[in-house]
Amino acid sequence: MGAKLPPTRNCCDELYFQDSDEAAAYTVQHLTDRYGRVTQVLERLFAAGHLPLRRRQMSVLEVGAGPAPGLYAARDFYADLALWAETSGHEVPFLPVMRMHALDKGEAWGRLLHSLSEHLIALRSDLPSSPGAFPFRVEYSNLAGFSVIREHVRALDHAAESISAEFDQSDEPITRATARRFAEEDGVGRPSAYDLVVTSNFLTAEGSVKEFQMELRQLASGLTPGGLLIVIGAAAGNKYARIWSALRTLMRCTELTEIKGFEEPIAANLNPEWAKAIRRQRQDILDELRGVDALPNEVAGLQATDGFPTFRVLVWKNQRPARKGPRRRASATG
Ligand SMILES: C[S@@+](CC[C@H](N)C(=O)[O-])C[C@H]1O[C@@H](n2cnc3c(N)ncnc32)[C@H](O)[C@@H]1O
Repeated sequence: MGAKLPPTRNCCDELYFQDSDEAAAYTVQHLTDRYGRVTQVLERLFAAGHLPLRRRQMSVLEVGAGPAPGLYAARDFYADLALWAETSGHEVPFLPVMRMHALDKGEAWGRLLHSLSEHLIALRSDLPSSPGAFPFRVEYSNLAGFSVIREHVRALDHAAESISAEFDQSDEPITRATARRFAEEDGVGRPSAYDLVVTSNFLTAEGSVKEFQMELRQLASGLTPGGLLIVIGAAAGNKYARIWSALRTLMRCTELTEIKGFEEPIAANLNPEWAKAIRRQRQDILDELRGVDALPNEVAGLQATDGFPTFRVLVWKNQRPARKGPRRRASATG
């Protein structure tokens, strides 16, 4: 893991995250900092009245999730809101996030999320219980060709097939339409739309907006009414200026509305307590690796004193009115 630290500091775009040491090194280097950034963004959105608050189901998707800073931050933010509403006798109960899905093609992330979530649950067992799910696996494995609605329809088809098979086994007749209706009534794990879609430090390569233009459009149509698409990344440099500009141009062709108030770069982790906690966590791990002689020469003297670079965020909202009446059946191939 020590040997994998240097590349996770300066050439993440070249990594594939196939092995657990690489994923762990990336996590040590970036998770807490990115968790802080997403939390800052959620706070701003909440203060501006844009954060979706749900009464029946709250779902979050993180694209290019890696160690899932967006999922963990959203999980904790909504858990705090739910607890606050409960303890302050607020009339409207805020739902915690119960569905959180990671999308990433690095094979090592599933196990990392599983063990990270298990550790967090154990570490927090002494604290007052905080509602909400934790991510335990990677739900979707590639953004190429991905569409929220298509995945939902596939899951429904799969559930309908299982229902038909069960009826067959007990020699009871069932039509495809009835099996499908039962599947719809039971519900499936993959929703037809998400309340929040977060992507952090994923669109980092020149041309990545063009490469994923179809999928980004699909993500834009995979939001619930009032749902948000949040894109976080670096602020500095011409390459990023071009990436942000390409993204805005693309999003103008969707039905989403860009949220104002995020035009300027944001200073990351300005809160001194957060900055201290993030540095301490990194320093503890560096010391531990150094203690077992596991740091390569190029980072042997590394201390966790790095500043936190400013970042940018662009947010789009689905302001289309909620659909009335029964939903039209979507097709898996359409
Ligand atoms: C720089 S990391 C960002 C991780 C995390 N979101 C963060 O803010 O630290 C980019 C992630 O995107 C993933 N990735 C790259 N291409 C992908 C694709 N086509 N589909 C899904 N994930 C992809 C990589 O495996 C990697 O985990």
